[in-house]
Amino acid sequence: MEFYLPTKLFYNIEAFSAELDKLGEKFLIITGKSSKYNGSLDELTRILNKTSKKYEIFDETKENPPKELIEKIIEKHGKDWDVVVGLGGGSPMDTAKAAAVLCKNNISVEELYKSQKYDSAANIVCIPTTAGTGSEVTQYSVLTINGIKKGFKHERIFPKLSLLEPKFSLTLPRDLTISTGLDALSHAIESALSLKTNSFSELFAFKAIEIIKETLPKLVNDLKNYELRKNMLLASTYAGIAISITGTTIAHSLGYSLTTDKGIRHGIATAVFLPFEIENADNKNSKKVRYILGDMLNFLKKLDVQISFVVNDQEISKWAENVANSSHVKTTPGNYNYEKIKQAYYWLIEKSGIYRG
Ligand SMILES: [Fe+2]
Repeated sequence: MEFYLPTKLFYNIEAFSAELDKLGEKFLIITGKSSKYNGSLDELTRILNKTSKKYEIFDETKENPPKELIEKIIEKHGKDWDVVVGLGGGSPMDTAKAAAVLCKNNISVEELYKSQKYDSAANIVCIPTTAGTGSEVTQYSVLTINGIKKGFKHERIFPKLSLLEPKFSLTLPRDLTISTGLDALSHAIESALSLKTNSFSELFAFKAIEIIKETLPKLVNDLKNYELRKNMLLASTYAGIAISITGTTIAHSLGYSLTTDKGIRHGIATAVFLPFEIENADNKNSKKVRYILGDMLNFLKKLDVQISFVVNDQEISKWAENVANSSHVKTTPGNYNYEKIKQAYYWLIEKSGIYRG
């Protein structure tokens, strides 16, 4: 299929709430602590109270949601839910997707990765409060299983409904604005370079790159600017649509170990490999990315992106093995094998100029 997006997207909260009303009577809200401060949780509970829906709130989501977290949610709140709402950044949304499948199927978290094991889920609703993950428009959920960050994919985990409300991201601090913004940029660029790209994904990917190039450097110095927040949210949703078609490519796979083993935020861990991926793609779309964005390394430096961690050769070999076994290798141009993947890590550490040991 060239293009499939079953998610209804809304800007307007009242129109969104009318649709929400139709989805069921029992709502499980999955969120983190920040939704209490950015106004989004109050807004959602106001809507649910107005129509006397039953709801419970789980507000202990963590970054890079581990399988134990999903198990804890089911243990604590049970499975009898019509709707599971993911409210927040990528972690609550991806957690909500996983929980929604478990609500309707007697399977383990590990079995979420075996797509033939299930064909149903509770209705999923996403309300992003950052602008990065694009999870509000994708059929993906990325969890951490036994220390390895890995996504699962299923048509049933496309959200039924998503609300794009930029005001919820106005309180996002500078560092999270940068890391989530770079996650969105990574989605857009990786999609544009992917061997699975098509005319629909390119449309969304290049538009997202264009908007992020213009918006993110301004936004980091003007965090309360509603228009800039709105543009970033739009761009991250466009980038999400692009990866719903193509998936992500090697930069995401390379970055996962930096996140799980060294605690580097997902968007940063991924974006630092984009210069390497663009350079090695060397095709029509990599030229177009350069034409729109300019030099990727300069873009990162302009945002003061620097990373530091201590690593040894053994760890890099293990990371490279994980990447070599990931599906991303097959969809990335540039013929990546184990040696070339290792080269990407050594490039970051020795040559990029953004690594401080
Ligand atoms: Fe991502």
